[in-house]
Amino acid sequence: MSSYKTRPTPGDTAWFRRDRFGMFIHWGSYALPARGEWVKQNEMISEEKYEKYFKYFDPDLYDPKDWARRAKAAGMKYVVLTTKHHEGFCMFDTKYTDYKCTNTKAGRDLVREYVDAFRAEGLRIGFYYSLIDWHHPDFTIDMRHPRRNDPDAEEQNRGRDMKKYARYMRDQVMELLTNYGKIDILWFDFSYTGPKYENPPQYPWMGLKGGKGKDDWEAEELIALARKLQPGIIIDNRTQLEQDLWTPEQYQPEEWIRHEETGELVTWEACQTFSGSWGYHRDQTTWKSPEMLIQMLINTVSLGGNLLMNVGPTARGYLDYRAEAALGVYADWMRVNARSVYGCTMAEPDILPLCPNGCRFTQTEDGSRLYVHLYSYPFKALKIPGLAGRVDYAQFLHDASEILFDEKEDGSVVFKLPVVKPPKIVPVIELFLK
Ligand code: GLC
Repeated sequence: MSSYKTRPTPGDTAWFRRDRFGMFIHWGSYALPARGEWVKQNEMISEEKYEKYFKYFDPDLYDPKDWARRAKAAGMKYVVLTTKHHEGFCMFDTKYTDYKCTNTKAGRDLVREYVDAFRAEGLRIGFYYSLIDWHHPDFTIDMRHPRRNDPDAEEQNRGRDMKKYARYMRDQVMELLTNYGKIDILWFDFSYTGPKYENPPQYPWMGLKGGKGKDDWEAEELIALARKLQPGIIIDNRTQLEQDLWTPEQYQPEEWIRHEETGELVTWEACQTFSGSWGYHRDQTTWKSPEMLIQMLINTVSLGGNLLMNVGPTARGYLDYRAEAALGVYADWMRVNARSVYGCTMAEPDILPLCPNGCRFTQTEDGSRLYVHLYSYPFKALKIPGLAGRVDYAQFLHDASEILFDEKEDGSVVFKLPVVKPPKIVPVIELFLK
């Protein structure tokens, strides 16, 4: 067994830490403006103007079976879909608002089809649910709200009641966790109180509370409800109450994340985008290279974490060609290299420091196999110190071709590699340890 012990979690995270790789899907009516899921607040669009995206929402080419097949081929083992994002538009049939997909040209419950399709491919099912809601009439205007600069924002807030909104969230979470069978992950997003957020000077009119957090969401009740309905479900920490998951967003941690107070290692999942935006963004040109995509996955696992990689489907309901290509990059690599990802974690403390420049280690939980990921391909030989006497057999992972090696007197092992790099973005050496 791995010598790394993680802080115990209330939910069932054992499968999660084994599976390592999931798909995030940001899909909502913000796919129409195609300028990212924050467009309503970024451009301070009025309700009236934003309404057109409801009116014209018509995902006629929605085919979640195709998404699910691509996710599975990419090696993803679980999936998390935005059932409601900050814009407030619901992708499922709910009794508690008319602002839902069933009242658009889509005319049906899109979450239901998503659940069925991904479950059929054997992936575990997650729901993202936004704590923020820029449509709900009881959600008070705060510093991150599209109406934040309205001169009469304070007046508008007078009739709003966050208690009613908290109730609305419980009602919807009840629906989501009752009507779709077993749900494995509930991904709340997000809280924004604290010194960083309180009364930022750029909105001086806001004598109102700067942000919102666990008390506004009535997070204890919300979570108790979720746990009652789906015991074992994995919940993130973004309600501001510690649960199962730490969720670094759009950056790659450099160490295994630790608990802020106790210093214990925690269960973590980096969420990342292909191009910067979560929701479909037509004009973004900052797409990550194939090398980055593969390295982000390996880097994450090499630090004991999971990767949740996002796609932002188009408003027609299919995946953008660039997203399909990026998923293809994972598919090509994972088809033959998944063994260095599933069931793997950070290399053991006595092995980790031996990692040569330009390489990354992962190691199986039971310690029996060590994976050497070659980021910069060496010329003909790779020397790893300290491994002499510990390697039973070595091969390339992608084709199981033997790699001969010599053990040196200084305790190092020299692996004999072909001069030309094998045709994989990151070749992997699999070492069976004694
Ligand atoms: C955020 C953003 C968002 C995205 C997300 C994913 O903080 O508000 O649009 O859904 O986190 O991690």
